[in-house]
Amino acid sequence: MPVPSNVKQRLSPLAEDILKGFSAEEKYIPSKYFYDDEGSRLFQKIMEMPEYYLTRSEMEILSVQSADIASALQFEEPFNIVELGAGDAQKTQELLKYLVHQQVDFTYIPIDISEEAMQQLQQKLHTSLPGLQVQPEVGDYFSILKGMDFSGRSNLFLFLGSNIGNYEPDDAKVLLGMLYSHMQPGDKLLIGFDLQKAPSVIHNAYDDPHGVTRSFNLNLLHRINRELEADMVVDQFDFYCFYNPFNGEVRSVLVSLVEQEVTVGALQQSFHFSPNEIIRTELSKKYTLTEIENLAQACGYRVEKHFYDHNHYFTDSLWRKE
Ligand code: TRP
Repeated sequence: MPVPSNVKQRLSPLAEDILKGFSAEEKYIPSKYFYDDEGSRLFQKIMEMPEYYLTRSEMEILSVQSADIASALQFEEPFNIVELGAGDAQKTQELLKYLVHQQVDFTYIPIDISEEAMQQLQQKLHTSLPGLQVQPEVGDYFSILKGMDFSGRSNLFLFLGSNIGNYEPDDAKVLLGMLYSHMQPGDKLLIGFDLQKAPSVIHNAYDDPHGVTRSFNLNLLHRINRELEADMVVDQFDFYCFYNPFNGEVRSVLVSLVEQEVTVGALQQSFHFSPNEIIRTELSKKYTLTEIENLAQACGYRVEKHFYDHNHYFTDSLWRKE
């Protein structure tokens, strides 16, 4: 049944996306909705788990190898460091700290969709690194990049975390190609990739024995109930996650355990779920070095250097636009 037009006009972004996601042939929930207050708290717990190696691995790279990263830049000063999806910039701060202490002349431009996160970050950096020039921007990456004039200075773009791994491979190519078109020759990109490794290590990071990742996924359903006046019976859904070592993809999904109808009040509409029907929640793609090199090349970049943690679980890869 189509949504009445008077309802459609007043839909929140979540409502619109759930309408699309629950009406699709293969149901999905966009992964940006993981991070409400409860979801952010659960994600903090995920990052603290011994099984979730990603954050610690990249933290090690950016703290232990900040001098090597800095010397690989070879920029004329002053330059910009432009971070896409900066968040709390906890890992980036390690690199910034090194550069400030070396009295390097640069401006840090963190970009994020959360205004609150950018205000908090500016305050935090003002206290921890008072000498740092910070120019936060609020909005989505490409509308900000379009409106900015980067010419006259060299720019290092940062796309850290396993951010790129959450894009379908074709979408990753499009995103990195768009970024390339905003860069000038000589600009660089430091981009994080979680590497393929022993499948059991990856599996445990995403299907943890403590059940935190399970709660994190099921919170999406609680959120839909809370914010969209829906009546999802959370116990009638299960979390399932699998790592495919043939293509490096972790797929996280929710599974409807029974045949059921879900009514979403905000949409004035019901959705049918068959037994064992899945709802996609996240792709977390793990890359091989060859795939990374091919991706860079396909988008026009030259790979300059890989920075690894001591386990070689993760790489921050430095690319250059020729
Ligand atoms: N998107 C992040 C990642 O792929 C965060 C994350 C960790 C996550 N565990 C998850 C997302 C489970 C969805 C499901 O690493």
